[in-house]
Amino acid sequence: MKALVLSGGSGTRLRPFSHSMPKQLVPVANRPILGHVIDSIRELGVTSVAVVVGDRSEEIRAALGDGSSHGVDITYIRQEAPLGLAHCVRIARRFLGDDDFVMYLGDNLLSGGLTEIADRFRADRGDAHLAVRKVDDPHRFGVAEVDSEGRVLRLVEKPEHPVSDLAVVGVYFLTAAVHEAVDAITPSGRGELEITDAIQWLVDRGGDVRASVYQGFWRDTGQVSDVLDCNRELLAGLTPRILGAVDPDSRITGPVVVGESARVTRSRLSGPVVIGAGATVSDSVVGPYTSVGDGCVLDRAGVEDSIVLEGSAVRGVRGVHGSVIGRRASVTEASGTDRRILFIGDDSKVEIHG
Ligand code: TTP
Repeated sequence: MKALVLSGGSGTRLRPFSHSMPKQLVPVANRPILGHVIDSIRELGVTSVAVVVGDRSEEIRAALGDGSSHGVDITYIRQEAPLGLAHCVRIARRFLGDDDFVMYLGDNLLSGGLTEIADRFRADRGDAHLAVRKVDDPHRFGVAEVDSEGRVLRLVEKPEHPVSDLAVVGVYFLTAAVHEAVDAITPSGRGELEITDAIQWLVDRGGDVRASVYQGFWRDTGQVSDVLDCNRELLAGLTPRILGAVDPDSRITGPVVVGESARVTRSRLSGPVVIGAGATVSDSVVGPYTSVGDGCVLDRAGVEDSIVLEGSAVRGVRGVHGSVIGRRASVTEASGTDRRILFIGDDSKVEIHG
């Protein structure tokens, strides 16, 4: 089996972060989402991986390289414009040949538990096998109608009136049968070649398309709140490791990782917390569920349930929570009596409970 990872797209919903970095590289527990995706593919025993990239291709190549550090072999396929998930399959035809493959959305995070579905796909040898999950808000997702034996009867993309509450998870097990389908369909109303239309095409022609309920954690990281959910989920499984220096006046409780050459002084870290390499934390209270990137500076700061991206600083501000702070950003206390306290960049979003 091969893997096709989709990392093109425009990522409009994750702005402003996706302006300066492809959304698939937003770090969760201090590692890019895409790194977690490749690890998850490796766990399925798949090592031949193609990554579809769009106009942010350079950054993605820089992050993943040839895949050897993840134990896989990566080929990059350039998609000229985000013309849809089924379009990605079309342009990957040469790489895929007639092999079975797992198609994985590069901005989706799953915490394990895919192996059983992969095994079922290999055993059943249908035309396609989907992972589905019960959700409360099916109108936001591709939704599958499935019979009592797990056969897919109908798929609808973001339905106004959902036919079921089973959302299609962003991992698809496909066979070469899908190639005829992606060639046969035409663009949807939103101008994309939809993978749901391709799979529906298979179903309509009597294809054997099945679905299994995925039980583990899953988020499509389209929105900032989803990224924070992923951060909490991954930090919950953190293995503690102190590589940097923690002074005797600091207190650590719960699972905490302090990266190489990081320095923690007179601070309280309540795990799960990860502090990146070279970061300095002084007179601060951090955690739980907080990821602080490489080279950050926290001084007299209070940060909880948040992601602070690399190179950022929080000085003299307590009560930061449920927040994502972009790379090289600076959050500081206002000085003097000047009431102007916010300088907000283009396309930013600030939500303040005051
Ligand atoms: P989506 O979240 O469906 O689309 P998007 O990235 O354009 O995001 P937004 O709606 O916020 O603008 O994409 C799912 C994944 O598939 C994501 O990793 C991007 C990737 N993708 C491609 O590689 N090519 C495409 O043509 C599309 C539509 C998505």
